Amino acid sequence: MLLTLARERRALFVGGKGGVGKTTVSSTLALARARDGGRVLLVSTDPAHNLGHIWDTTLSNERTRVATADQGYVDAVEIEPHATIDRHFAAVEGTMMRMLPERLHRSAKQHLELAKTAPGSHESAVLERVAELLDLGLSDYDLVIFDTAPSGHTLHLLALPERLTGWTESLLASRSRSERFSAAARGLVGRSEDETEQDAELRRTLVARRNRFARMRSAIGDSAATGFLIVTLAEKLPVAESLDVAQQLSDLGMTLAALVVNRRSPADAGALLAERREREERYVTELAQALPDVPLVQLPLVSRELVGEDAVAELASILTASPAS
Ligand SMILES: Nc1ncnc2c1ncn2[C@@H]1O[C@H](COP(=O)(O)OP(=O)(O)O)[C@@H](O)[C@H]1O
Ligand SMILES: [Mg+2]
Repeated sequence: MLLTLARERRALFVGGKGGVGKTTVSSTLALARARDGGRVLLVSTDPAHNLGHIWDTTLSNERTRVATADQGYVDAVEIEPHATIDRHFAAVEGTMMRMLPERLHRSAKQHLELAKTAPGSHESAVLERVAELLDLGLSDYDLVIFDTAPSGHTLHLLALPERLTGWTESLLASRSRSERFSAAARGLVGRSEDETEQDAELRRTLVARRNRFARMRSAIGDSAATGFLIVTLAEKLPVAESLDVAQQLSDLGMTLAALVVNRRSPADAGALLAERREREERYVTELAQALPDVPLVQLPLVSRELVGEDAVAELASILTASPAS
């Protein structure tokens, strides 16, 4: 069922509480789709990255090929917000230095340093990179999978990326240290796009970003192309939180494509696990009843350590075999 979903969609966002198996499910699905002939871009947005760990390699802000199949492959990225922030501010700084008189250079640099660490700059940079990689995924890949943690806040940002359209600009403006400097910063990166004295290169960057966020918004709103997946465990808290996220998604007009109940205990491996399994049934039923229209896929608890392509492949074969209940 999940493989069908991965074939039909161009972008999947995988969310859920920490530790439930988002990275595992994202990687498993990516490999299943690659072995099915798809070109897959797999992106971790979680600051506590563990995508590299499961693929037994070191990943970065740029693409690394982690698996190849006959025709398909998986390229993986761990988003590093600092790399995006630095890239951005380097462009802004270069322009500022060209445009401001030399006596203002020092205070301009201080101003930029402050803006870099302003609240919100980190998540803005993540979202910026998400938008970039979504663009790349839609043009060069069959599928892009985001291994993420859609807290309510992240979901709102995804739904309304315009809020962040001018993040560099507003960070600069909000951290202004002098009227004069603030005016210079506004004149430089501000709203008046048609002012000819503005630096054309920076303006192009800003306009490109605005357009990219607009594309992200329309991609996310397109439920035929984009899907949200919630990974959960059959336990009280993860189920409560999943229902909460499902509600938020629906409030934002986004559709929940599937629920994955991970690490189901086996019935035939001793009394302890059998007892756990019985308790889990209650929570699976609760989820199924609360979200009757959402396909629900279950993944068993496996005994092996989930590191390396072989381990991911083993789980992928279970995943692709499991029907939605
Ligand atoms: N089906 C499973 N069976 C056994 N262990 C699992 C399973 N799914 C995930 N794990 C293990 O659980 C831990 C958390 O999974 P992970 O995918 O890193 O969660 P998240 O990305 O949501 O924080 C990892 O050690 C992973 O290997
Ligand atoms: Mg993870």
